[in-house]
Amino acid sequence: MKFFVDTADVSEIRKLNELGIVDGVTTNPTLIAKSGRPIREVLAEICDTVDGPVSGETVSTDAVGMVREGHWLREIADNLTVKVPLTVDGIKATKILSDEGIPVNVTLCFSSAQALLAAKAGATFISPFVGRLDDIGLEGMNLIQDIRLIYDNYGFDTEILTASARHVPHLLEAARLGSDVITAPPKVFWQLFEHPMTDKGLAAFLADWEKTGQKLG
Ligand code: E4P
Repeated sequence: MKFFVDTADVSEIRKLNELGIVDGVTTNPTLIAKSGRPIREVLAEICDTVDGPVSGETVSTDAVGMVREGHWLREIADNLTVKVPLTVDGIKATKILSDEGIPVNVTLCFSSAQALLAAKAGATFISPFVGRLDDIGLEGMNLIQDIRLIYDNYGFDTEILTASARHVPHLLEAARLGSDVITAPPKVFWQLFEHPMTDKGLAAFLADWEKTGQKLG
């Protein structure tokens, strides 16, 4: 399962990347705004920091504008993936950009019907927003299960990128269901390390080792 970090904070990306667990990055207009930096500058720095795909989102609402912005974004780096919303124009733009060999991440997916459209248009990634479905009282992970079934039925290459993941159980459930990728805020990846028994066990090992008076190396 690939781990993408959902942030435009380069220092947070660097810290996780040093662990060797980062396969890519996703951004959106909200995250770019939060960084307080010019989009071209921040995306260029992220693309330079990680080897994998970095999603940069278009903001036009018409297909022509999305394609134009997609080309502009792709000039930033070869590992830039163009992110477009799941609208009629977004699907049109996905088809055009994908036919040109440009990787597209179709975002704001809330149904398996929408996911099917993105796959048919040749999207590289589909981003179902599980957390926002949970927010409105639905079971977001059911969508991942449904899309996995549909994509496998027909052998679609589009990768399921579980998005809007808010906590470790989201990540684990996505893994159980066979999501190809998960994107989550940095804190979720740090939480993966945590277990009180690890801390307790390590403290006991070190205390016992101290008593031996020995040194390693
Ligand atoms: C994914 O690409 C989106 O940027 C992100 O996962 C949205 O998450 P949110 O619902 O927590 O804002």
